[in-house]
Amino acid sequence: MTAKVDAVAGETAATVSAHAATAATTVSRAEPEGAAVPVTYGASERPPRGDYSTARGDYVCDQNWSAYTPEQHDRYRRLYADRIARLPGLACDEFLDALAAMEAADAIPDLDALSIPLKATTGWTLVAVPGLIPEDAFFALLAARRFPVTVWLREEDEFDYIVEPDIFHDFFGHVPLLFNPMFADYMQAFGRGGLKAAALGGLEYLARLYWYTVEFGLIDTAQGLRIYGAGIVSSGSEPRHSLHAPEPARVAFDLERLMRSEYKIDTFQATYFVIDSFEQLFEATAPDFGPLYARLQRQPSHPAGIVLPGEKTFAI
Ligand code: PHE
Ligand code: FE
Repeated sequence: MTAKVDAVAGETAATVSAHAATAATTVSRAEPEGAAVPVTYGASERPPRGDYSTARGDYVCDQNWSAYTPEQHDRYRRLYADRIARLPGLACDEFLDALAAMEAADAIPDLDALSIPLKATTGWTLVAVPGLIPEDAFFALLAARRFPVTVWLREEDEFDYIVEPDIFHDFFGHVPLLFNPMFADYMQAFGRGGLKAAALGGLEYLARLYWYTVEFGLIDTAQGLRIYGAGIVSSGSEPRHSLHAPEPARVAFDLERLMRSEYKIDTFQATYFVIDSFEQLFEATAPDFGPLYARLQRQPSHPAGIVLPGEKTFAI
């Protein structure tokens, strides 16, 4: 695997830890009351990239759509064209159909404008945020059916690889499935679950669930395996890899097995979990996770990439 490929995969990984409450993702915050303050994640001392000065206490800010430059709109348009050209026959119909209906190919989307059809369809609203936000703020927004979208767009030299989520990843990757009623309900349930997970010592397991579903999930359809994960669809090269490379394990979704599974943050995923339907995902995650977290805390984790005896896997 080339360094370039690793880098591209690393993009999606970092993208996820930004929005998933990963255990590796510790949030450090200074303390000013009420105001949003920059957030740093994990071991990185990299300063947060966004402008947090205008964000409110819930980390929501104004998108200031008119401030995007023609060059930025053009870069977004090229990113969209590049990624969508790679997805026919790979991404699931729910994603592709909703993306097409959004008619957001030509310019950086206006989040307020796109919120109107989204709200009418599933009750979700898009809100602008300056960049990475703390996990409690993230969960609270999801629980209120408000999806945070980073306002800034990557630079030209990040066309194939970016280390944290920008508006292209957040919008192109995540928003289409918010038009799907079942997935929309799953995301809200996830937010609610996140708000209670910290007290139960469950954040690490919940992060794995986010990672292996929302960001890197595959779905089994009548036409074959398809992608629904945002981290895959917004990547240049992981779509084909996730479905057609011989290396990764493609394991049937099982909640407890998934939550025991470590994941890769600096390469393509070694394991993908495959759901049958968004209904399956919603129903499997509906029960109270309290007893599950307690059980998981007493068990060792599985390394990424392994297949357990008797486990159902999907051939390519
Ligand atoms: N059922 C979970 C709990 O009790 C909440 C949840 C739902 C978490 C869906 C993630 C996804 O914590
Ligand atoms: Fe993401």
